[in-house]
Order: sequence, then structure tokens, then C-alpha cells
Amino acid sequence: MNIPILDLKRQFRQIKSEVDKNVREVLASGSYILGKNVSAFEEEFAEYCRGKYAIGVASGTDALKIALRACGIGKEDEVITTPFTFVATTEAIHSVGARIVFADIDMDSYTIDPQEIEKKITKKTKAIICVHLYGQPCDMRTLRGLSRKYNLKLIEDCAQAAGAEYKGKRVAVFGDVGCFSFFPSKNLGAFGDGGIIVTNNKQIAENARVFRVYGSRNKYEHIVHGLNSRLDELQAAILRVKLRYLDQWNEARRKNTACYNKKFCALEERGLVITPKEQKGTKHVYHLYVLRAKQRDALMDFLKTRGVGTAYHYPIPLHLQEVYKCMEHQEGDFPKSELAAGEILSLPLFPELKKKEIDYIADCVYQFYRNRK
Ligand SMILES: Cc1ncc(COP(=O)(O)O)c(C=O)c1O
Repeated sequence: MNIPILDLKRQFRQIKSEVDKNVREVLASGSYILGKNVSAFEEEFAEYCRGKYAIGVASGTDALKIALRACGIGKEDEVITTPFTFVATTEAIHSVGARIVFADIDMDSYTIDPQEIEKKITKKTKAIICVHLYGQPCDMRTLRGLSRKYNLKLIEDCAQAAGAEYKGKRVAVFGDVGCFSFFPSKNLGAFGDGGIIVTNNKQIAENARVFRVYGSRNKYEHIVHGLNSRLDELQAAILRVKLRYLDQWNEARRKNTACYNKKFCALEERGLVITPKEQKGTKHVYHLYVLRAKQRDALMDFLKTRGVGTAYHYPIPLHLQEVYKCMEHQEGDFPKSELAAGEILSLPLFPELKKKEIDYIADCVYQFYRNRK
């Protein structure tokens, strides 16, 4: 068998006729930037998240950058986030001139540990960016409590968590603002780059709208320096189709995860792997299926020889990345993130993955550990 870590062609086959129709309509309309599909998708996505406002932008990274600026974060400010995330989270902080401050993760959820945040708060701290990593919502009750206690903005990086829930409500509306990515591999992915900001705060929404179009509220009147960062009309037309399938696809991801977890029971009992655990009171949407595995690198090599695609999300925690050398962190500073980074292995997971493919992948994993006894 040959099973890639992700196969987007399968999903496209399912929605091809609807996508073709919407794309043709946009092409014929002559309206390609901030047209009716962008406005309609913003409304539909805001409603999906039970948020008041949604602002489509060019990527998830831009969503974070614009959200930070819209919250008034800039030079001299400190923003606390996790070192166990994709670099886009911290690039956004850097881009607004603020200082990145890391706080370690909780080992069960792989998300930022609120107790670690509290140790890092100073007079300069202005915001927290929590990341719903792999589709697992963070501990939003505690994070919200912290943000209120210390008067900090709370930004949710929802890039990997479209449709995930915390205590029955979808992520994005627990903090001041939620930021999504529509990178093609995401649970809700476009056919190119895209992103969106969701908020219940009118002022933040207005600011974000200004920042995404050259700092202007009215055409050719510029009130601040902004960006050119808009969700494409074509992408919005495609996302409107895909949004209707999102819940169904997330359910398929959850079902496939349950299937993997059941398969790996015996290995987990023997301490060879740790399967992902949905945290109490949350709905995990499994953007990725991430195991922690003994002899992880050898397992990856073995699976490759068996035609199974895998990846590390992410192999080097951010505090140890070359780009952040200037922060002068060293190994041991964030031990949980480092432990996770050394053991995680993502297996193929997407809604269209077949039961027989999961059986095959699980059999290969068993074979690997059998050979190594
Ligand atoms: C956690 C996280 N934050 C932010 C981003 C940035 O999104 P984009 O690639 O759309 O800029 C990503 C996506 O790769 C991500 O995984």
C-alpha cells in the first residue's frame, strides 16, 4: 500500500461539481477582490463560530498579525505563547514589534499551561496567544480567568481547530479574537492561502477591516499603515462549499482517531506509544493524529519502507530554533515542549482515510515493535 500523510485529491473528488460551479460563477462575475462571496462567507463563518464579526484575510499568519495590531499590541509589549507551535504564531508577534515570551505546555493536551503563563507575566505583558494545537482546544476557562485578572488580551490561534469545541461552544469566541488559517491541509482548507479573524468586539473588527486594506476605511483615505491582506473572492467561493461539509469531515476525523486509538491499546499498555487524548469538556477535531512513540525516528523510517507517510509536528520547539537564538534560551528551559518534540509522530489522518488503510498502518506499527523486542 501507499498511504500519504494527506491526500487532498480524495476530498476534491467529493465536492468537484459544487466547486466547479462556484468557481465558474466567480470567473464570469468579473469581481475578484472583496466581492459578494467574501462577504457571504464572512457572515456564514461568523455564524458557524457564533461570533458577531468575521474578517477574511490572506492567510492564518496575517490573521494573527492583524489581530495583534487590532488589539493595540505593538513595540515594548510582551506577548506570551507556547514554544510548541508552528512558527507562524511567533512570527506574527515579532512582526508587530512585540516581544515573544514562552510558557511551557501541559503534557496531556500539548497546549499552553496556564500555570506556566502566570509565572511569566510582567508589567509589560499585554496579551496571550493560546494555540489549539492539533485541533485540541486549550483550557479556555482558566485562560479567560487569567486574561481578566491581569487585563490581558486573549488571542486564540485556531489555525488547526476549525469546528473544535470547548464546553459546547466553538473555539474563537472565548478570547478577544480568534484567528483561522485556510491553508489547504487544514480541516477547512482553501485551494491556496487564506485566513479569517473572528471576534465579538466591534472595535477590533473595525480595526481589522482597516488593517487588511492599506489602513483605509474609505478608498484612498489612509488613516494608518496597513497591509494588503484579503481573502480572495475565488477562495471564499470554494470555502462556502467546504464549510457545509466541515462538521461531517470533522466527525470522520474523530471516527478515524477512535479507530487508531483502539488499535493501539495494547501498545499503549506496554508503554510503547501514547495516543492523543481528548480533554474533558472539549471536542477535539484532530487536524492531526499525533502519537508519542518510543524509537520514534526508527518507526518513521520503518513506516516509510512500508509506504506510509508520516511527519513531525514539530521537531524543534521554537525556543531552540536558530531564529530565536537571540532570546538566549537553552535546552531544558521548556522541558515538556522538548519532550513532546522528541517523541511525536503524526500518522496519516484525513476524513477520507479508509478503515482498511488504518488497519494496515496499525499493523505496520505493531510489526515494528515486534521486530524490536
Ligand atoms: C498553529 C498555526 N498557527 C498559524 C498558522 C499560519 O497559517 P497560514 O499558513 O495560513 O499562514 C498555522 C498554519 O500553518 C498553524 O498551524
